[in-house]
Amino acid sequence: PPSNQPYRTAYHFQPRKNWINDPNGPMLFKGIYHLFYQYNPNGVKLRGPPVWGHSTSKDLVNWMPQPLTMEPEMAANINGSWSGSATILPGNKPAILFTGLDPNYEQVQVLAYPKDLNDPYLKEWFLAPKNPVMFPTPQNQINATSYRDPTTAWMLPDGNWRVLIGKSKRRQRGLSLLYRSRDFVHWVKAKHPLYSYERSGMWECPDFFPVYKNGNTMGIDTSVIGPNIKHVLKVSLDVSKHDVYTIGGYDTKKDAYTPDVGFMNDSSLRYDYGKYYASKTFYDGAKKERILLGWANESSSEEDDAKKGWSGIHTIPRTIWLDKSGNQLIQWPISNIEKLRQKSPVFKLYGKLIKGGSLNEVSGITAAQADVEISFKIKDLENVEKFDASWTNPQLLCSQKGGSVKGGLGPFGLMTFQASKGLEEYTAVFFRIFKAYDNKYVVLMCSDQSRSSLNPTNDKTTYGSFVDVNPVREDLSLRVLIDHSVVESFGAKRKECVTARVYPTLAINEKACNLYVFNNGKSDVEITGLTAWSMKKASIA
Ligand code: FRU
Repeated sequence: PPSNQPYRTAYHFQPRKNWINDPNGPMLFKGIYHLFYQYNPNGVKLRGPPVWGHSTSKDLVNWMPQPLTMEPEMAANINGSWSGSATILPGNKPAILFTGLDPNYEQVQVLAYPKDLNDPYLKEWFLAPKNPVMFPTPQNQINATSYRDPTTAWMLPDGNWRVLIGKSKRRQRGLSLLYRSRDFVHWVKAKHPLYSYERSGMWECPDFFPVYKNGNTMGIDTSVIGPNIKHVLKVSLDVSKHDVYTIGGYDTKKDAYTPDVGFMNDSSLRYDYGKYYASKTFYDGAKKERILLGWANESSSEEDDAKKGWSGIHTIPRTIWLDKSGNQLIQWPISNIEKLRQKSPVFKLYGKLIKGGSLNEVSGITAAQADVEISFKIKDLENVEKFDASWTNPQLLCSQKGGSVKGGLGPFGLMTFQASKGLEEYTAVFFRIFKAYDNKYVVLMCSDQSRSSLNPTNDKTTYGSFVDVNPVREDLSLRVLIDHSVVESFGAKRKECVTARVYPTLAINEKACNLYVFNNGKSDVEITGLTAWSMKKASIA
C-alpha cells in the first residue's frame, strides 16, 4: 500500500474507497465467481440508501470491479437495497432475492434477474415487474423494521422452492421465516418458521445449508438432502454482533429444523471469535466446496476512517465443512490463497525448543503481508496452571491473561506487527493451557490487540475462546494471515478462527520487519514446524 495508506489490505477484499459491509449474492456462474456487497458509494459511513457493489473473479483471490447494481429503481427499493442471496434456477439462470426499503422505509423482499445471460460477468440486473415479492401485511403480523436478508433458496422433491428471511418479533424472539414458491415469483409464507428461539433478538443474514457427516470435506449444493447429511443454520445476532450457528437435523416433511445440541442464541458456536459478521456461504460446484465469506468492520475511529477514505473489508474466503466429531464446523482459507505465497523470502524451522520466557525472531519475511503456519508440541506439563471452574468467559480470560502475562504452560504463539524489541506495539496470537479438576486439559486461544497500536482511539478488544483439542496427544497448530490491518488466525487444526483489526503506528509497511515466536510461560515448548511466507499483492480494486 502507498505510504499514506498503511492500513489498506494487500490480499483481503476491499473496494477502492468508501463504506462496505455484508457480502451479498455470492455465486459461481459460467466459470466466474461473483461477489456483491453492501456499499455506500458516497462516503465512509453507512448513510443514505446502500447499493450493491459487484466484483468478479476467476479464483476468489484476484477481483475485477464491475458496475454498481441494485440501485434505487422502483418503489420496492427506492430507499436502498439491503442484503440478499443468489440462487441458480434450472437452466443455469441466476436470480437474486434481497431486501429493499420501500417509500415508507418498510423492509420488503425484492427479486432481480440478470439482463443478459450470455454475459458471464452479469454486469446488468433488472428488478422483476411484480416486486416486492414478499412484504408485511396486516394479516401476516410482520414487523416491517425487522424482516430481512433472504437466503439462497433450495428446492425439495415436491418441486417447491424454499427461502428463509431473518426476523424478530415480540419479546425479542429471533426467527428464520420460511416462504415457499413454485415459480420463484409468487411466495407464500409457511405457517411455522423453519426455526426460532426466544430472546435472541433480530436474526440478520440467516444461512442454511447441508454438510456431509463423517468428516467428508466436500461441499454440497444447497438443495441436496439425504441420509449422510446434516444441516447448518447460521444467523447474525444483531444484539451481540456475532455470527452463531448450530448443527442439526432438517425434517423435510415438517419443514422444520432442530439443532442437535442446545439452541440458537449467543451461547451457540461462532464462526469466528473476533471481528466477523453478516457472513454467507455458497456452493462452488467447480471445486465441490462450500465457501464462506464474511465482513470485518474497522476498529478505528470514524475520524480515522474519514482520513483513510474507506471502511470495512472482507475476510479471506474459507472452505467450510463438518468436523468428524459432528460437533463443530471446520474452516480453512481457500487453497487458491496459497498462490500468493512468494517463493522467497520464506522462513522455515523444524524441531526447535522454545525456552520459557524467550522471544525468537522469524527473519527475512515481509512481516506486514505474510502467511505463517506453525505447530507446537508440549514438552512438559509440570508448570501447567490450575483451571478455575468460574472461568466461563474465554474472551474475558484472554483479556485478563494477555500475551504479556506470564504463565505456566503458555502463553506461547506469534507476535506480529512488532516494531522493535522494545515491544512498544505488537499483536499476540497465542495458546495458554490449564488443567481442570477432572484432569483434562483446557486450551485457550487468544488474539491480544491490547498493545497493537499507540493510537488510543482504536478499539483494542482482546478476543479468544476455548478450543476442543487434547494438547498431550496432538500438536497445537496455528495459521495466521497478516495483512497490514488484519490478523486472521486459524487455531488448533482449523477448529477456531479469530479475526482482528489492528492499526500499528510504528510497525507499518517495511518497518514491520519483525515477527516473533514467543513463550511467556515457565515451561519450554517445541516448534515442530514453522513456515512463514511473504505474500504477493492480489489484484483487487
Ligand atoms: C447486517 C445488515 C443486514 C442488512 C444490511 C444493511 O450487517 O444490518 O441485516 O440487510 O446490513 O446494510
